[in-house]
Amino acid sequence: MNLQEFYTSAIEAGKKCDPRGRSAANKDLRKRRQEYDNLPKHRRKYFGTELLENPYPDSLIIVPPHEDIEVKRLVISIDGAQYVIKYARDKDAILLTHHPEGIAEANLHLAWPVYFDSLRQLGITDGMVEGIPAGHYIKKIRKRAMREDKEDWQGDNVELLPDYARLVGVPWVTMHTIADMYAHAYVKRLLEHENPKTLGDVVDVLMTIKEYQVGAMESRVKPWVILGGEKRKTGKIMLDMIGGGEPPEKIFNALAGRIDTIIVMHADKDLQAASKKNKVAMVCASHIQSDTLGMNLLLSDILPDDVEVYPTGGFRRVEDPNRMKELMQKYDVTKGK
Ligand SMILES: [Fe+2]
Repeated sequence: MNLQEFYTSAIEAGKKCDPRGRSAANKDLRKRRQEYDNLPKHRRKYFGTELLENPYPDSLIIVPPHEDIEVKRLVISIDGAQYVIKYARDKDAILLTHHPEGIAEANLHLAWPVYFDSLRQLGITDGMVEGIPAGHYIKKIRKRAMREDKEDWQGDNVELLPDYARLVGVPWVTMHTIADMYAHAYVKRLLEHENPKTLGDVVDVLMTIKEYQVGAMESRVKPWVILGGEKRKTGKIMLDMIGGGEPPEKIFNALAGRIDTIIVMHADKDLQAASKKNKVAMVCASHIQSDTLGMNLLLSDILPDDVEVYPTGGFRRVEDPNRMKELMQKYDVTKGK
């Protein structure tokens, strides 16, 4: 498998796990094509051709190799860092990170539609919120979230680390939203299958996942109840493992009365306050271990067996190639996404 094939198969794998369904991903691509076609010719070269073929452009080859290369060795890390790049050079490997850098970082705001569109499944497009139809309300906050993210990330020196990788000759790929969608799909199916009754049960279900077990043993980082007690009933759960960052606070106005518990990967003080105000309980599935889960599931699906993997930077390789398939068989997938 060469690097281009690896990248293309990751995009296809992502569409398979997209909580909105494959057709929504293809619709995004058609919309971007239209946007591109409507641009005056002199602006088209700045548009970014990756946006026309990849619905998840925070998952990209950010430092391409000089020529077509085979994927034989991968150094895999959750984050990019100089020592991680050096390690990849020492191993003569391609670098694969989860969190985006370079162009993928500048494209991060484009991951928000996956998050907002998936809210439809909670019925958030029905009824009214703050006096306007819920569908319009969601579109409005989605637009603002994308704008704010763009402002945040595009102020960064996004090429700082990729330049270092170029200097030392390390090709670099990031897999962000694609891996997050895998974690989301797996945990969602698992919760639907196990049907936890209390917040404590949610923690126990999450702790059956090997990545959380490794995190708890190695670093004492594990899923925990942030808001509500262990004995509190879960009610309707919203799983929140995708998106360019924290879900915007305003989202709770739309969620009010529709969900009882939210499971997040991380929650800042504002998000906790919004959740508390709306009487929504909160469980935190640890961030880096959730990212690791998504990366492992993706790799199980697309990585040939003979590729050597060197984990570092918070990533731990858990090889359990059949767990997604087994879970899908246990649970009737026609019941919903
Ligand atoms: Fe993350």
